[in-house]
Amino acid sequence: GQLNTLAKAKGLKYFGSATDNSELSDTTYVDILKNTSNFGQITPGNTQKWMYVEPSEGTFDFTQGDVITSFAEGNGQMLRCHNLVWYNELPSWVTSGTWTNATLISALKTHIQGEVTHYKGQCYCWDVVNEALNDDGTWRSDVFYNTIGTEYVPIAFETAALYDPNVKLYYNDYNIEYSGAKATAAQNIVKSLQARGIKIDGVGLQGHFIVGETPTLSAQTSNLESFTALGVEVAYTEVDIRFTSLPPSTSGYTQQATDYVNTVSACLATTDCVGITLWDFTDKYSWIPSTFSGQGDACLWNADFSTKPAYTSVISLLGGA
Ligand code: G3I
Repeated sequence: GQLNTLAKAKGLKYFGSATDNSELSDTTYVDILKNTSNFGQITPGNTQKWMYVEPSEGTFDFTQGDVITSFAEGNGQMLRCHNLVWYNELPSWVTSGTWTNATLISALKTHIQGEVTHYKGQCYCWDVVNEALNDDGTWRSDVFYNTIGTEYVPIAFETAALYDPNVKLYYNDYNIEYSGAKATAAQNIVKSLQARGIKIDGVGLQGHFIVGETPTLSAQTSNLESFTALGVEVAYTEVDIRFTSLPPSTSGYTQQATDYVNTVSACLATTDCVGITLWDFTDKYSWIPSTFSGQGDACLWNADFSTKPAYTSVISLLGGA
């Protein structure tokens, strides 16, 4: 057995990976990605984001996003669709537009309508709103918050539900994998939507961790349960566990394996933790080195497609050999 088959046998809906269009010409990579015993779920790492999908106002282009969704569907893999509203990877007409409350609400609704309608029936879930919070739990200052205020969040969820009543709707963020101001603020987003009868089905905890600083199993489990206690499902949506200095030592790889095992264990231990997605499975295509210079080796597969000790430990945790 491999990651996905074993994870499903343990009660998860999927074990998955992000991918991106440029990676799909790499045959060694694709052979691993498309194998549903490894991965039962795909997240498009970039090309469903606003700048790709609606590069100019009212003009939609799903060409690149469709490459990934067709790949997943062709292989019988579930899709986490990512994302509808995010401060990053916005086209300049959004970031530099002259907006009023009313005109930006209209543009937001048009965007969500267009994208959700196009992918209707294809996605297991949508990350409706991504990373709306600062690490201290306050609202991130971005064009949506600064123009519309906090109402952009309920508007986004209501609009997504209107155009695909069956897809699960998620709030997705990082640094909410342990208790604290940011996790509490994310729980308050869930509660405030629920209080108004607006559909929210899940919270995505990204899981971009650092080796040796990953929250403990009990910290992660109790945190997941504080979300599921609200009646939403949870998932680890973008897992990678990076070294802050390279190359790793032997004991570093052992610590990384412990950190991965704790994260996977926390999901297994939580009723309503539905799955785990790697933010790509190989260091060859990890986002980390280009964002955090000198850091990396965060993935279960090395850049040469050999597997790390953490891979072996996760397989073993899942009951494989
Ligand atoms: O496609 C262009 C290419 O044509 C160009 O030559 C090259 C030069 O810089 O850029 C390429 O685009 C890059 C794109 O990734 C595809 O590789 C962008 O510059 C780069 O900014 C973009 O980074 C993505 C990042 O989101 C944007 O902030 C990462 O791949 C993607 O993994 C990352 O994913 C995010 C999640 O969506 C949300 N959570 C955090 C996570 C990590 O930052």
